[in-house]
Amino acid sequence: MTILVTGGAGFIGGNFIYYQLKNHPEDRIVCLDKLTYAGNLETLEEALKQDNFRFVKGDIADMDCVEQLFSEEKPDIVVNFAAESHVDRCVEDPGIFVRTNVLGTQILLDASRRHNVKRYHQVSTDEVYGDLPLDRPDLFFTEETPLHTSSPYSASKAGADLLVLSYARTFKLPVSITRCSNNYGPYHYPEKLIPLMIANALGDKPLPVYGTGENVRDWLYVEDHCAAIDLVMRKGREGQIYNVGGHNERTNLEVVKTIVRELGKSEDLITYVTDRPGHDRRYAIDPTKISTELGWLPKTTFDEGIRRTIQWYLDNREWWEHILAGEYQTYYERMYGKR
Ligand code: NAD
Ligand code: TYD
Repeated sequence: MTILVTGGAGFIGGNFIYYQLKNHPEDRIVCLDKLTYAGNLETLEEALKQDNFRFVKGDIADMDCVEQLFSEEKPDIVVNFAAESHVDRCVEDPGIFVRTNVLGTQILLDASRRHNVKRYHQVSTDEVYGDLPLDRPDLFFTEETPLHTSSPYSASKAGADLLVLSYARTFKLPVSITRCSNNYGPYHYPEKLIPLMIANALGDKPLPVYGTGENVRDWLYVEDHCAAIDLVMRKGREGQIYNVGGHNERTNLEVVKTIVRELGKSEDLITYVTDRPGHDRRYAIDPTKISTELGWLPKTTFDEGIRRTIQWYLDNREWWEHILAGEYQTYYERMYGKR
């Protein structure tokens, strides 16, 4: 089989490529990635050495480029990770989120139709459900929870999900969608909470916690997410949505304090900064459907996953120090300088 992975030079897509190469060495993997600020070929260094892996630089929203690649490779499965993924950036520039996340998805769907792919899988997010109140720990997102987005990022992801479902209904395209909670693990771009806090703590820099730090996220180790996507795209029912999450809820402050403790740093580094506009309070996934239908369960506890993640950042300083030395500096100054 040939599997087209879009956005594979990013965090989850990169981990997914390694998951595939390890667990399905009989398959060929083709990665299409535009290499935006978030894409990094250093992530794919080991994959590039393998004969059954091909990397193509290109934009999912560029119809000619997508059509040419589909004609050349005739993928059996398409897995779309490519996206603008950072909420703070969508506050600065929503347009690129609509272009990549919505238009890019539609272009991939059209190519998938024309080339009769056996499965188009969309990697989505729990953020399409909006947020839950902090004082109702009994509430969880199910696949039936109405879409109720808060940010241009989540709105663009919800728009893409609706397009995917419309192609199933209108054109009988065999699709599936996974909606996952917050991931963490190796190759995570250091603009996101966990890698940012690890990098800053290692540099004895302030740890910028938005608002009061009471917002809750449901953390999933990236390898567990990759296993879930692999199961759904191969064995999940067509036209279905599967929520993916691990009942690993933590407040942001708990996460930051865990990182500080594991690295032997002082909590005095924690600095409360102006909150994110429209900041979602709590995300929490009910993964009953994927567990009962496909037998998926997360294997990694938060305590184990965060230790593995911190160790990875200690062992792979070059990977993230290269990022910190580039465009990231102006981003950081813009985002946190006067906060
Ligand atoms: P990321 O920002 O680390 O990587 C995105 C990748 O997509 C980058 O390699 C980038 O170069 C590429 N890309 C961006 N625009 C492109 C375009 N127009 N054409 C081709 N490639 C393009 O993102 P991530 O955290 O790995 O997230 C991957 C997917 O998973 C996204 O769709 C995101 O919405 C979803 N998701 C992420 C999380 C999370 O916690 N990170 C949780 C749930 C769902
Ligand atoms: P993030 O990693 O950006 O993921 P998302 O917004 O998609 O959940 O942020 C996770 C949480 O951490 C979110 O509640 C915002 C918060 N946060 C901070 O408090 N400080 C930071 O510097 C960052 C990047 C995030």
